Amino acid sequence: MDRKPLIAGNWKMNTDAASSAALAREVLQRTGRLRSVDVAVFPPFPLIPAVLRVLDGSAIGVGGQDLSAEAEGAFTGEVSATMLTSLGCGYVLVGHSERREYHLESDELVRRKVGRALDAGLVPIVCVGEKLAERDAGETFARVERQVRVGLDGLTAAQMARVVIAYEPVWAIGTGRTATPAQAEEVHEFIRNLLASMFGSDVAAATRILYGGSVKPGNARELMSQKDVDGALVGGASLSGEGFAAIAENAG
Ligand code: PGA
Repeated sequence: MDRKPLIAGNWKMNTDAASSAALAREVLQRTGRLRSVDVAVFPPFPLIPAVLRVLDGSAIGVGGQDLSAEAEGAFTGEVSATMLTSLGCGYVLVGHSERREYHLESDELVRRKVGRALDAGLVPIVCVGEKLAERDAGETFARVERQVRVGLDGLTAAQMARVVIAYEPVWAIGTGRTATPAQAEEVHEFIRNLLASMFGSDVAAATRILYGGSVKPGNARELMSQKDVDGALVGGASLSGEGFAAIAENAG
């Protein structure tokens, strides 16, 4: 099964009105012609319109870094799925480990957000991954299994066909400590087998499972050459147009 790689740049709480547009221009210049790989960027919410203006008409996708589990109403500070689609976003990150850690997001909340994203027509990139203590305690597979089972609970196969998963071991995020290709592959394969048991083997074989955690131009090719690694969710290295493009070129 051929899965087109997806390279997603999570800008986190970086850039401003001017520098987000400049970074988007650089990403467009350097990756706009790539056809064998999908590229998407995830700017902070208020900067999405500026980035969309630059990327309008290009193949580069734009998404939010989070969304509300609610549809609309008195939820100060929240951003809804339909706000994102009305701007022109096609993607949204859900359950990033920084949301889980600093905003106490549970697997159950992640499931509600996935539902909102799908209802609005967004492609959710659902982030899962164990902490260092969980890995050291031999709980990696149990932790990831719960995140997948609860986070995607009750989705139909047709809904699941629109979901992307990102495996991001928390100990590898922003630490410079990348999982080895073998460590990544063993969890990716585990997730794909789990998806097969939940949604059937066709859906599992078609689902893109990205790796995230200190992906850099120098390690991207080896990670993405693994059988079940279908692209990357890139944090720090996505803030350089040159570095991000080098990663995308290594995916095709
Ligand atoms: P990093 O972040 O590439 O800076 O480790 C990845 C992520 O948090 O998505």
